[in-house]
Amino acid sequence: MIRKKLIAGNWKMNKTSADAVALARDIVFSLGTQSSVDVVVCPPFTALEGVARAVDGSLVKLGAQNMHFEASGAFTGEVSAPMLRALFATHVILGHSERRTLFGETDELVNKKVLSALKNQLRPIVCVGESLAEREAGSTLKVVQAQTERALDGVSKEIAASIIIAYEPVWAIGTGKVATTEQAQEVHGFIRGLLAKAYGDAVAQRIRILYGGSMKPANAPELLAQKDIDGGLIGGASLEVRSFIELVNAAAGAS
Ligand code: 13P
Repeated sequence: MIRKKLIAGNWKMNKTSADAVALARDIVFSLGTQSSVDVVVCPPFTALEGVARAVDGSLVKLGAQNMHFEASGAFTGEVSAPMLRALFATHVILGHSERRTLFGETDELVNKKVLSALKNQLRPIVCVGESLAEREAGSTLKVVQAQTERALDGVSKEIAASIIIAYEPVWAIGTGKVATTEQAQEVHGFIRGLLAKAYGDAVAQRIRILYGGSMKPANAPELLAQKDIDGGLIGGASLEVRSFIELVNAAAGAS
């Protein structure tokens, strides 16, 4: 398999710095020398530095949950790609549906962030996904296509393989309602097709497409066995060491 599975924990607005460091230490300890799966943790900004130290020298990589597209300047409350790089972050979640719906992020803004992340050697985890109303209206693929194409506008073929896409149906996030394996695989396969059209089949086969939305140890093995599901972007189940490690093990089992 040319794509190594990836399990990423999106801790969202949870955990103080001390709690985050404790969880990161537990994850590093429990993972041991597991290397068949890529593992990324994305704590809140306030915990990045501490977690960077806790995962230093381990196989666990560090990601942020958002960033501004400018490198520096008068943008009160914002954090830039070079600042994340200086803390040894390697990944950044961009365009999460919570950012889009609660903080008004547009496809155009997400695109600027994607280009800035790539310019600064950060791997963007670009989130796309339809709302319940959009799914019920039969426009899932149209919505996902528009979000994906707009987010990747201007991304060259040479660098495209370092992008990670996360398909997160909005109606499945934090609701306990997981997409069926057929629903998820259909959209993942569709996204792979879009990537092949944009970058050619060889590059598309290297880009990882994660599933996110109520992924848990119980439903993960079936989802991760699908041919275009290359891992998970995990919210709730990433906040506790046991469930997170079970998800990593599920990904290892599906590799
Ligand atoms: P849950 O796993 O809590 O549904 O969250 C998914 C998510 O939004 C990850 O980014």
